[in-house]
Amino acid sequence: MAATVNVNGRTSDQEHAVISVFDHGFLYGEGVYETLRTYNGQPFLFERHMQRLRRSAGMLALSVPLDDAAIDARFRETMRAAKLGDAPDREAYIRILVTRGIGELTYDPAATPDPSIVVIVKPHVAPSREAFERGVTVALVPIVRNHPGSVNPLIKSNNLLNNALAMQEAFRRGGFEGVMRNYRGELAECTQSNLFIVKNGAALTPPVDAGLLPGITRAFLFEVGDERGIPVREAVLRDEDLFGADEAFLTSTTREVVPIVKVDDRTIGAGTPGPITRALLDGFRKKAQELTRTVASPAR
Ligand SMILES: Cc1ncc(COP(=O)(O)O)c(C=O)c1O
Repeated sequence: MAATVNVNGRTSDQEHAVISVFDHGFLYGEGVYETLRTYNGQPFLFERHMQRLRRSAGMLALSVPLDDAAIDARFRETMRAAKLGDAPDREAYIRILVTRGIGELTYDPAATPDPSIVVIVKPHVAPSREAFERGVTVALVPIVRNHPGSVNPLIKSNNLLNNALAMQEAFRRGGFEGVMRNYRGELAECTQSNLFIVKNGAALTPPVDAGLLPGITRAFLFEVGDERGIPVREAVLRDEDLFGADEAFLTSTTREVVPIVKVDDRTIGAGTPGPITRALLDGFRKKAQELTRTVASPAR
């Protein structure tokens, strides 16, 4: 991994990208982030990611000290330094982190007046061709997704212990992803992606009040479904809905739409990526290309 990093306005290679141990992002996990990727050199759905970043930050009473134009400029500067986003085979992964900043060892936000902003850019690495063509196995893990009254999953927080513990369990079981239930026992989402099942021609995904991160890709897929004449809607889902699904898939910025063909040792549907999943992936990719192709100069 060769990343280029901008820490509070200063760009460097990954070896020189450092931040104080007194940053409350490090001390307390107090911070929020977004992960974007480029298509045709353009940070995809930039405004939606910025809206979610500011909403997440607001839920921590944390302010994002740059406006969207300044963040866009910082992304492009870091991409230029990384020599990414300027050719079709050089799409970028972009992660922005905003943390509480440096201060005394106290939870009092007054101790940290200046949030830190870090931008990490590296080459975008897509899931393997095999993952898209043959589908993946996921693990249904016992770690429960955070209760919304605790660390609300609506917050895209740097405090990722809930996700990391669930994914550790998925790794142990050889899963590509870990599916988590909420405190009510309903399906919620995966550790780094949203979950969908397909039943009788409709794509169904747990509602936001199940306690999950409202994925940008998830929301975009409602629009793709509209255009393709495929019903995509929210529904409370339980284990039996997943096991009895015709198809299943997961969505995220870096993974697009990945078919799920097995959950632990149980086969889903026909055990191969189904027609609705394929149509939504195809529709997603075409729309992503359309929305980014028209912009004249990549990585300005
Ligand atoms: C817990 C969780 N759910 C869902 C997603 C998918 O969100 P998006 O489509 O915005 O990438 C992510 C992405 O990182 C995530 O961490």
